[in-house]
Amino acid sequence: MKESLSALRVNGERLRANFETLAAIGATPDGGVHRPALSDAHLEARRWFLERAEQIGLDARVDGAGNHSAVLHCGREGGPTLLLGSHLDSVPYGGRFDGALGVLAALEVLQVVKEQGISLDTRLEAIDFTDEEGHLVNFVGSLALSGQLQPEHLQNPRGGRDRFQVALRLAGLSESSLFSAGRNPATIAGYLELHIEQGMRLIELGMQIGIVTSIVGIRSFKIRFIGRADHAGTAPMDKRLDAAQGASAFTLAARELVMKDFSGRVVNVGNMEFEPGAFNVVPQVVTVALEFRADDDDKLDEMEAALLRQASIDAQRFGLDLETEFLDSTPPAHMNDQVQETLANASKALGLKHTFLPSGAGHDAQSLARICPTGMIFVPSVGGFSHSSKEFTEWESCVDGANVLLHSALLLA
Ligand code: GLV
Ligand code: MN
Ligand code: MN
Repeated sequence: MKESLSALRVNGERLRANFETLAAIGATPDGGVHRPALSDAHLEARRWFLERAEQIGLDARVDGAGNHSAVLHCGREGGPTLLLGSHLDSVPYGGRFDGALGVLAALEVLQVVKEQGISLDTRLEAIDFTDEEGHLVNFVGSLALSGQLQPEHLQNPRGGRDRFQVALRLAGLSESSLFSAGRNPATIAGYLELHIEQGMRLIELGMQIGIVTSIVGIRSFKIRFIGRADHAGTAPMDKRLDAAQGASAFTLAARELVMKDFSGRVVNVGNMEFEPGAFNVVPQVVTVALEFRADDDDKLDEMEAALLRQASIDAQRFGLDLETEFLDSTPPAHMNDQVQETLANASKALGLKHTFLPSGAGHDAQSLARICPTGMIFVPSVGGFSHSSKEFTEWESCVDGANVLLHSALLLA
């Protein structure tokens, strides 16, 4: 890198002002944000992002999958694009940093490069992907852009087809428009994403920067335990076909099973819906939202078989019927070795202590890794909290991460 560029830094104050403004959109009283994909708050955050991009003098764009972009035409004519980004949606009642930091740092990098009038080989594009958090269809924006979206991905949205259709309509999208977002991989030079770690490892190791080596694979199912509604006061306990018993037994057994037979992998029952769902009615149906994660596809297959077998055992034990519905599967992804090296070099040049680590959280980088050189930068999460309003990263760490993003982008672009 040229001498003059090595002294370049992001404007931490400006980045912070953007961060605070964005965090006010969908803010919750306990200091988090509630911006599920394509909700009013999420759409407002996206409008704000485009306005901000235009104010800076960037080319604001939205593709058929609703991915929002700000483009800086700093590359050679007809050259490829280096993507920098993350997501502006949140899990329900989530934190302010997950996704937002990566998008705003990307915007800041473009602004710095523009101000300096730097010419690069590639264009730079700051991108906010649609539904990273899987409120509707997990990773739909990055799957669409990377040409991996298949009609099957849209068959069983996590929140049901009706909610998905309504959300698409309100956002001015449609199922067919999603497929128009695919890009030719030859036009993409790479993808970089800055994100909070969402765990404790960096802080425990005393490191300032994490360089992601791989991202975990994720699979999800809906599991329905089906019994019989009965009067909660008059039906004898031993005659009930209580769907909640099967669902609860399964939840406990799934934990034991994964801890015993799949050490280091994880399972989560994130929701249970009771039907009819009343104090005085024995539950007829309980639908369990099941997700499990592992670092390789074979392990995911083994976990799937073992967990579904366990659900069937628990259903039988309480005289229940069982229905299982596959929702989605995201394969694990390896981050590009050269990009990892570049991120390490940028960290070193900035005097930041770095280490290499795998990600147990899913990211859009997983989709991009299949079509272009991809890498991720982690910054420390205080207390390791994430997907909660307790999510917190020291501002200095956010700026460190943004500077690594800037310098890595300059090295790769
Ligand atoms: C995304 O944050 C995920 O790991 O679920
Ligand atoms: Mn995220
Ligand atoms: Mn998340």
